Amino acid sequence: MSSLDAQEKILTTFLSAGFQLHPEALSHLLTNLNLNEVAEKLIKNLNTMQEKPIVLTKDIVETILNEQFKPTITIQESSSSFEPLAKKVEPRIEVLEKEKPKYSTKGTIEDFIKYFNNRYEKIKKILLEHTNLRDASTISGLKALQNSTPVKIIGLISNIRTTAKGNKLLEIEDQTGKITVLISNDSEEAQEKAKHVILDEVIGIEGTVARNGELLIAKDIIWPDTPVKKEQTKAEDPICIGLLSDLHVGSKMFLKKEFERFLKWLNTGFGNPKQKELASRIKYLIIAGDLVDGVGVYPDQEKELEISDIHQQYIEVAKLLEQIPDYIEIIITPGNHDAIRIAEPQPPLPRDIAAPLFELDNVHMLGNPARVNIHGFKTLIYHGRSLDDITSAISGLSLSQPELAMVELLKRRHLAPIYGERALIAPEAEDLLVIDEIPDIFQAAHAHTVGLTNYRGVITVNSGAWQSQTAYQKTQGLTPTPARLPIVDLQSLKTTILRFGA
Ligand SMILES: [Fe+2]
Repeated sequence: MSSLDAQEKILTTFLSAGFQLHPEALSHLLTNLNLNEVAEKLIKNLNTMQEKPIVLTKDIVETILNEQFKPTITIQESSSSFEPLAKKVEPRIEVLEKEKPKYSTKGTIEDFIKYFNNRYEKIKKILLEHTNLRDASTISGLKALQNSTPVKIIGLISNIRTTAKGNKLLEIEDQTGKITVLISNDSEEAQEKAKHVILDEVIGIEGTVARNGELLIAKDIIWPDTPVKKEQTKAEDPICIGLLSDLHVGSKMFLKKEFERFLKWLNTGFGNPKQKELASRIKYLIIAGDLVDGVGVYPDQEKELEISDIHQQYIEVAKLLEQIPDYIEIIITPGNHDAIRIAEPQPPLPRDIAAPLFELDNVHMLGNPARVNIHGFKTLIYHGRSLDDITSAISGLSLSQPELAMVELLKRRHLAPIYGERALIAPEAEDLLVIDEIPDIFQAAHAHTVGLTNYRGVITVNSGAWQSQTAYQKTQGLTPTPARLPIVDLQSLKTTILRFGA
């Protein structure tokens, strides 16, 4: 029965017995799993009263239920019958980086050169897998070619301009030189694709040489992209992953009541049979950053803080997470509000600042991004600061549909293609933001809106938030969709979003 049907049925039952249910009393009653039995007993009890109430308030209902029927109708009763399937399954978590990143850059000019060379080489390798780019030339090699010769190059976009006539001009570089690329007016396809090019990304261009190798007229633009998965990974065990992020504990807008409802659901299977079954199958939870609101993250933040001490904020997070049953493994990665360097890749949260979290045996602390094999599923976890940049750079994208922006990252095989905007990048010797290996699950966060899609076999999820709208988000016109939990069923690959708030 749907919850609406159940509501209607219960209202009718009470009305025909001569009682009106206050909405709060109705919500309270609906939390009972054995609803019909409870209603029957309640009416029986009301009928024995000398002065029968006409409107049943939550207090009346609660008092009668607590006094008369506690042993048979409370949540505790349902919890005793809650035997999670996931409890019987052994966890399988393997962090994919063989060597943990060293996070050692000093940010010198040499470091930046090394970083961009590494980005170029890594993405070039992916582009060379495209059959039509296998014989790509170097940029300096174009000078020797006659005008109109068809060529292909692979380069990094260092500048984008639009001419007075509306043509797009790209400056493209490789390790041998630089060239201006004009998007041909004759090619509608190239014109359309050019609307999606962004700074600092590495792409392939197919075109013809002009002006003695000083110009390239592009007929096509090729992104590294994600090949279509031939077969999707599936688990044999009937287990699920729940994806969370952006708790922002410490903020006045942290939705504590809703988060506690989520904890209760995990512990008791509270809800309808389908929700109960899902609770029973949760084996893993991933929290993709912004566990706390932080301190001094933005101007005047103290006005919006409930807890103004960073250590206290993490203590509060630990108090909540320790209520998660210990057979559930929790993976934690940092975000831009957490107490760690903001430049990406971010190291895992440090022990001194997040000590109470390290005391939880079922918690795994990883960096941002993190690549982890969870029960056979290659999972890429990224907080998603670059979603701000990519949604500003490509028209038609917005944070209200973060999954579409995540697809653009998968197409570029890079988590933060644009350099020097809001996503700060630390120039490490290896560009860890390149998506070398195609994940089975790609989780990002930061947008505070839940989004789900499947791109070429990659389960792509933005895990939303547990914080209601902030003053800043209001000025940006961003309406979050908080207190919703995306769940991926690892056996059927079905995805579900459970709501724990309005
Ligand atoms: Fe956030």
